[in-house]
Amino acid sequence: MTMMNASPNKIVILTGAGVSAESGLGTFRDKGGVWTKYDLNDVATPEGFARDPVKVHDFYNSRRANALGSEPNAAHFALARLQAEYAGDVVLITQNVDALHEAAGANAIHMHGRLDRACCAACGEDWDAPLAMTATDPCPSCGVPQTRPDIVWFGEVPQSLDAIAAHLETAELFAAIGTSGQVYPAAGFVAEASRCGARTVEINLEPSDVANLFDEHIGGPATESVPAWVSSLLDRLVV
Ligand code: OAD
Repeated sequence: MTMMNASPNKIVILTGAGVSAESGLGTFRDKGGVWTKYDLNDVATPEGFARDPVKVHDFYNSRRANALGSEPNAAHFALARLQAEYAGDVVLITQNVDALHEAAGANAIHMHGRLDRACCAACGEDWDAPLAMTATDPCPSCGVPQTRPDIVWFGEVPQSLDAIAAHLETAELFAAIGTSGQVYPAAGFVAEASRCGARTVEINLEPSDVANLFDEHIGGPATESVPAWVSSLLDRLVV
């Protein structure tokens, strides 16, 4: 553990499925993960949706129900506490489509969309998703029955990338928590933040695919490692 001379003015944090794992939401690539049970080409691509919209809606309806039945854990609450109490800026970017950061009281940029939002493939309107969506739900704005989950699928451009790029440029500390580093552009954020001068830390159960790019590593389950890391930052210490 080392004492920093000055606390970072701006902390940018990227979260992934590992943060929600202990809330009972499965990760994607761990043993028993979502992509070991479903073919992502079927349920997480525009082509899969065009082939079989009922199958895709069933998949996200079931994930939405699971997410609604889950509670934020100690890692979500610790990150919300950091946002509320830290003297500098704390920007939270998540790849997660659940709303557990918000349920814990944090503000997060959802770069891969949100399960609790629907959008219209015809006109782009978006709205609160009902618990169960169907392929024939009409858009409340244009009436066209091309409703889809407001989820970024493989082959699509993640949301808020310009804002994220600006945050990475000005980050003094970048942390990636609970993400395997296998999906870009998020997996490239550590390199970008590092290039712009940020110190970088990976907080994960096991080293990610891009672990070698981080200055520091913290292991262990997020419900233990994240509250400890947040406390160290609020005490002006960085591990
Ligand atoms: P992954 O499932 O790829 O990786 C989850 C990471 O969390 C792994 O590195 C685990 O070691 C770690 N992990 C698991 N349990 C943990 C715990 N209790 N505490 C700390 N770490 C833990 O999930 P993501 O990296 O989030 O995109 O996946 C990125 C994107 O791929 C997702 O947003 C999703 C997926 O396909 C879309 O669907 C568009």
